[in-house]
Amino acid sequence: MTTVNLSAIRACFPALDRQLNGKQVIYFDGPGGSQVPRSVADAMSRYILESNANLGPNFATGQETIRLVAETRDKVARFLNCSSAEVSFGQNMTSLTFAFSRSLAQTWTAGDRIIVSEIDHEANISPWVLAAKERGVEVMSIPYNPDKGTVAADDLIPLLNNRTRLVAVTLSSNLIGSHVAIASICEKAHEAGALVYADATHHAPHHRIDTQKLSCDFLVCSAYKFFGPHIGILYGKADEMDKLVPYRIEPAPKTSPHCWETGTQNFAAMAGLGAALEYLLSVGGKKNEDYDVSFAKIAESELGLSEHFLEHLAQLDGFSLHGMQTTANRAPTFALTSHDQTPETLAKFLGSEGVFAWNGHMYAVRLVDALGLKRSEGVLRIGLMHYNTTEEVDRLVSLLATVAKP
Ligand SMILES: Cc1ncc(COP(=O)(O)O)c(C=O)c1O
Repeated sequence: MTTVNLSAIRACFPALDRQLNGKQVIYFDGPGGSQVPRSVADAMSRYILESNANLGPNFATGQETIRLVAETRDKVARFLNCSSAEVSFGQNMTSLTFAFSRSLAQTWTAGDRIIVSEIDHEANISPWVLAAKERGVEVMSIPYNPDKGTVAADDLIPLLNNRTRLVAVTLSSNLIGSHVAIASICEKAHEAGALVYADATHHAPHHRIDTQKLSCDFLVCSAYKFFGPHIGILYGKADEMDKLVPYRIEPAPKTSPHCWETGTQNFAAMAGLGAALEYLLSVGGKKNEDYDVSFAKIAESELGLSEHFLEHLAQLDGFSLHGMQTTANRAPTFALTSHDQTPETLAKFLGSEGVFAWNGHMYAVRLVDALGLKRSEGVLRIGLMHYNTTEEVDRLVSLLATVAKP
């Protein structure tokens, strides 16, 4: 059962009409990057063709660019429920995290501790580990809890001490889909005096990100995962950002959020990001202005798809589903292995049939280790999005059935 208007939604995405060898292409590659509504591409091309300029000159296109940046920042602030001054833009999640980690690490001293997690994408681990090494800071990791299929606040508690400066953790796993109880993690981290840097990159297309409810100090995501172009977003609580010294060139602005935006930004991508956010609001209905309404519909639709997928997968022999086996508290992202075929073989077979799904470790290498899988093989990842249909899931399952061996 779906509460989104699926045919209206699908009509927004030209890519969904693509055929391969006479068959309709099916996109289960959303966690690697979602498909994009036509309105996003139109907004980008309109900006480039009609308003292209650098930021600030005293003529029409320069002023239009200033307005575009301000308006996009305001839109993102509404999306994340924060103030516009708390939103900065950058190339992507990884680059923003590397740059930000350099500044935050300046506040650490030798003997301090930071905590990462075993469930995270490496983009929320390596920058912190490298920064810690430079500063003589100890790194601990919240272990993956196989019973819970995620990392848990209870497993964070023994790692916290009064020298803990940071907990870096994701909201959802990009490999197995499980959510992380971020509010409990923030509570425990804050009690110990540590800050929380949350990676919302995988979560963003599926669930509302309300920074006030999450109570994390910093949060990062990338618009190409939620129907937009390639641009990264960093949220930082004003009080915390003001304590930090960004790496900036001397004449550049000294205050947030501009001081975090190094060099010329991708203005066309900002135009596309604004259109992606308008698309997300439109999912909630014609005049909808509330992201909670849109994401309630998206979640309900994805839940229906997930239930359908898991029900049919259970009837196939020869496959293992890794991590959580249920539909609650997860993104609709599923990690499979076959008992006798590699994830690469499966992905190539599906790809040749027009069903696009990723294979590999998806940069969640520590989780692949914790699941007892080989980094060199990883998993076959099925990533469902609200624009997918139960018929598409049926075609996937029937293709898997042709290769399934008990
Ligand atoms: C959970 C998660 N975090 C971080 C990243 C890195 O994002 P970006 O490509 O914007 O650097 C990804 C990309 O797949 C991801 O899935």
